[in-house]
Amino acid sequence: MSLKPNIKPFTIITCQKYKNEGRKITCLTAYDYSTAKFIDESGIDIILVGDSLSMVALGHSTTHSVTMDEMIHHTKAVARGVKNSLIVADMPFMSYQIDESTAVNNAGRFLKEANAQAVKLEGGSKRITDTVKHCVEAGIPVLGHLGFTPQFLYTLGGYNIQGKNVEATEQILEQALALQESGAFGVVLEMIPEESAKLITESLSIPTIGIGAGRFCSGQILVIDDILGKFTDFTPKFARKYVDLASIIKKAVSEYKEDIISGDFPSASEVFNLGDEELIKLANLDIKK
Ligand code: KIV
Repeated sequence: MSLKPNIKPFTIITCQKYKNEGRKITCLTAYDYSTAKFIDESGIDIILVGDSLSMVALGHSTTHSVTMDEMIHHTKAVARGVKNSLIVADMPFMSYQIDESTAVNNAGRFLKEANAQAVKLEGGSKRITDTVKHCVEAGIPVLGHLGFTPQFLYTLGGYNIQGKNVEATEQILEQALALQESGAFGVVLEMIPEESAKLITESLSIPTIGIGAGRFCSGQILVIDDILGKFTDFTPKFARKYVDLASIIKKAVSEYKEDIISGDFPSASEVFNLGDEELIKLANLDIKK
């Protein structure tokens, strides 16, 4: 058992410091041990175990399907690979909407069982900001999430840009201020015009993390499978693809298949061999057939 407290070099305090200094905060999602390890080693500040796990890693058609236990399972795997990045776990659909004690209890599970250092939840209604307050009072740092909030997919009528006029921008700003007031350490702004995100970022003292929210947020987040070109069901306009992993994986797998069929794999250098003495015994073995 480790006696070292689970304090990573990048904390919610560093996050605020970056905002104050105008230094960009870098974030990515992760869902498994090895990917999280590479992201951490690459120096990304925040790793979100997003409920996008539901779609990109588990193959569901929305984020609604992922369960608390699945989120805990994947957060544990991510945490095992991370030394420096702040780990934020996404509260899945219906894990915080029913009542406050269930919400705080579920949020606490991420810190207690899965080694996360913070949770994220969607929305900015009074009910949500009250929940944020209770979590923060219990010692659970919370990242808010406004704009397009995938758990409200059916309420929003699809993958639509939010805050498209001044009135809608004002509503998001009000909710962001309420989240700040409730003690959230930051707010994710998803799929809103960059002018709206700029206004919100400048109006808040806490950092904003943008995803499809333009250039002026305090930091940026994308889904790891999108930047690696590994999730091919759809690609949002804002998701920049840095590598086409889908093609690389398919090429490698096809070559492997061909090598097996042709007898090229395994080669002599990829097998285990008996020693000389055992080889002689093997040759003289009298097998009764
Ligand atoms: O689940 C997720 O991946 C998110 C985004 C903000 C990246 O919530």
